[in-house]
Amino acid sequence: MSDNPSEADVSRGAKAVIVVPDLGGAAVRDSEARLDEATGLAEAIGIVVVERLYFRVRSAKAATLLGSGQVEAIAAAVAESGAELLIVDAAITPIQQRNLETATKAKVIDRTGLILEIFGERAATSEGRLQVELAHLDYQAGRLVRSWTHLERQRGGFGFLGGPGETQIEADRRLIRDRIAKLKRELDQVARTRGLHRARRQKAPWPVIALVGYTNAGKSTLFNRLTNASVMAENLLFATLDPTMREIALPGFDKAIISDTVGFISDLPTQLVAAFRATLEEVLSADLIIHVRDIAHPDSDAQREDVEQVLAEIGLVSGPGEGGAPRIEAWNKVDLLPADQRERVEAEAARKEEVVPISALTGEGVDRLLLAAAERLRAGSKLRRLTLPAGDGEALAWLHANGEVVEQQHNGMETELQVRISDENWSRFQSLQRAL
Ligand code: GTP
Repeated sequence: MSDNPSEADVSRGAKAVIVVPDLGGAAVRDSEARLDEATGLAEAIGIVVVERLYFRVRSAKAATLLGSGQVEAIAAAVAESGAELLIVDAAITPIQQRNLETATKAKVIDRTGLILEIFGERAATSEGRLQVELAHLDYQAGRLVRSWTHLERQRGGFGFLGGPGETQIEADRRLIRDRIAKLKRELDQVARTRGLHRARRQKAPWPVIALVGYTNAGKSTLFNRLTNASVMAENLLFATLDPTMREIALPGFDKAIISDTVGFISDLPTQLVAAFRATLEEVLSADLIIHVRDIAHPDSDAQREDVEQVLAEIGLVSGPGEGGAPRIEAWNKVDLLPADQRERVEAEAARKEEVVPISALTGEGVDRLLLAAAERLRAGSKLRRLTLPAGDGEALAWLHANGEVVEQQHNGMETELQVRISDENWSRFQSLQRAL
């Protein structure tokens, strides 16, 4: 995809100036935290941030987004620092991109472009890669207006059609449309295969727990602690793009499956919401959702809202009352809080049934989180009576592991039981019995 004008220069080690424009509106976020997040995104793909600038934009300019004085200040910062890249932490139009490039003599990339670059590097499965390419093409299709000269140069200027113009752009659009259609077909195929895998796993008699959370909240760190696996946990945003599933031990269950999902982020470009959907389908079929939050982050509440919003977008209702999976919030990174703040946070968590304060790093609170998870999964248990053939040790062991056997009586060839068991486990037990 060399015809993406911003792509060629976004390479590891490239020096960049970051600009965070504050456009007002939406939830007010901490300026330092926004600069940190943008820096984190850039560093995630090996860009070296040499200067960070924050500007309040009173009225967005159609030509450059930022005001002329601000553009001058940016150009000066670029020149002084020798940066080859300017990262604008907002969505900008192709025209704004071109004008800013002219004014600063640096390549300009916006938030969507940056996130796409990260996704491109991180996508690990074939589905992830297809989704990212699709999102990239979608993004590019809107930017063709400015890249046609570039395309024409690349083709050596055959000039059959009397030079570049609408016809050339149309041809490029068609190429992109064809590629998009082909990618969509491939994705359908991959999604079908994955659906089969999931159907198979759903029959497995274990509950599935999904970890969700804002990027950098600590999902992978918690996942690793729970599984002792070494999924890449780095201080790199979006270290997790494709879901990872592992077995864990859960009190009262013989096992459970835990899945680590992609990190969420604010202002997720619409093209990427679609790209996320498949990874988040895992969340839709989970029995329990653990929302991992960085409780030490100044924008922790806003991040929570972002995550909730994406979950709602993919069709996940907010609680068991509405038919959704139960949720627990893990308030992570309590080790970072100063003592007084930590006390306050812990007191607040104690008042809320669905909240467990933890530190995925030190391990504090993690056992309590597992107990809470097991409890939530068992909630809604009913007492059921059943009769098993006397020799069915396997079924009996399963019931002991996944429910509470209240009474057990042997009557000759049969064993009569009373078991307290959740609806989910009950239907699991039944499908297990049918499979035998
Ligand atoms: P994405 O892959 O971007 O979605 O991130 P993630 O949610 O998987 O976060 P990850 O586990 O990679 O953690 C991000 C950073 O936070 C890493 O530097 C971790 O070491 C750090 N971290 C995670 N949990 C804790 C914690 O409890 N305390 C402290 N101090 N740091 C933590």
